[in-house]
Amino acid sequence: MNNKELIELAVGAAKNSYSPYSHFRVGAALLCDDGSVYLGCNIENSAYSATVCAERTAIFKAISDGKRGFQKIAVVGGEDGLLEKQCAPCGVCLQVMSEHCDASSFVVLLADNEGIHEYTLGEMLPYAFKK
Ligand code: THU
Repeated sequence: MNNKELIELAVGAAKNSYSPYSHFRVGAALLCDDGSVYLGCNIENSAYSATVCAERTAIFKAISDGKRGFQKIAVVGGEDGLLEKQCAPCGVCLQVMSEHCDASSFVVLLADNEGIHEYTLGEMLPYAFKK
């Protein structure tokens, strides 16, 4: 599974976004160590704080299926489904990633009009909370 393929899966996942309040569609594709891929989209709620992000949807689906060990996640998003700019994961999603993924090897893939950009989790959240 190369980076472009993972981004394309995230673009497909964004089509399932349930986002009637923000109209901001987000899709995520999580590559597990065993080669399986879990997709997620954002799922909003009229009680706004009950909304869940695309990244956490994908991660929680994978964890609840018993998956452990993750290599990378592709994230795309934009208003009205326009995916022109990089859509960085929010702090809550980065914190969830930091619970389950290695900071120096886990890769976050983002895309914009110029192409695909690659960051480590440690670059995105250098001072993750750890107990
Ligand atoms: N959203 C995500 O799905 N992932 C993020 O990392 C940040 C934000 C969603 C939540 C909400 O449905 C919409 O984007 C606008 O905030």
